[in-house]
Amino acid sequence: MSSNDKELVGNYEVTKSGVVTRREVLLMGAMAAASGSLIAGSQNPAKAADAPAAPAGAYKAKDFKALAGTMTGLSASQITQHLKLYEGYVAKSNAIHESLKTVELTSANATYSAVRELLIEQSFAHNGVVYHEYYFNNLGGKGGEPTGDFKSAIEENWGSTGKFMDFLKAAGKSARGWVIVGYNTRAGYVDAYALDTHNIASPANIVPLVVLDVYEHAYMIDYGIDRAKYLEAFINNLSWAAVDKRLSIATKHASGIDTTL
Ligand SMILES: [Fe+2]
Repeated sequence: MSSNDKELVGNYEVTKSGVVTRREVLLMGAMAAASGSLIAGSQNPAKAADAPAAPAGAYKAKDFKALAGTMTGLSASQITQHLKLYEGYVAKSNAIHESLKTVELTSANATYSAVRELLIEQSFAHNGVVYHEYYFNNLGGKGGEPTGDFKSAIEENWGSTGKFMDFLKAAGKSARGWVIVGYNTRAGYVDAYALDTHNIASPANIVPLVVLDVYEHAYMIDYGIDRAKYLEAFINNLSWAAVDKRLSIATKHASGIDTTL
């Protein structure tokens, strides 16, 4: 791409094909330069060029490419760019997992230390992988009405499907990172939670059912800053079958139900 094809506007690089964040630009640059070495989670652009190639490991990126170009209101470009970010979290999860095996331990310190930094960023990268997989897996449907036990669960908690949908949109406007509608294994009901980033306010013993990414990177290419339109698109592509299947499994999953176990 020539310099004539792009323009830097604040933190965003505007190209003929759309808008990507500076962070995404750095991620893509690192991918090209280091064959999969990515800097997801890094706030320091200098790390992009310095980052070593991430090792292969237990985390393997799942294939969501079929979503690109098949949804209404979410473009192929939007999904493709988003998947690159997800793949970055996969790569970094593997890299951090390996680094923790050999990290220097004698300097461990709660203000700053290498082991502290790796542990904190591991939760960021790990949640970045897992929440994105829930997100992409609950897309690809046709929206419409919730189904099955999930429909009964939200009617029990919110009173009606319509009230739940209004709540979901409001939650989507309120969070800075994620909205998780999940099965609370401690209490036995479905409730909603907001996360401002992958690893801040992530609730314990909550099985995600509806996972909504409201980071700007999830919709900037298609909608700029118009999050409300993105929320409509998200809902129109929701797979309620996937959501209901998750609830069915969650209610049978004993490990989180009794916290005295
Ligand atoms: Fe995302």
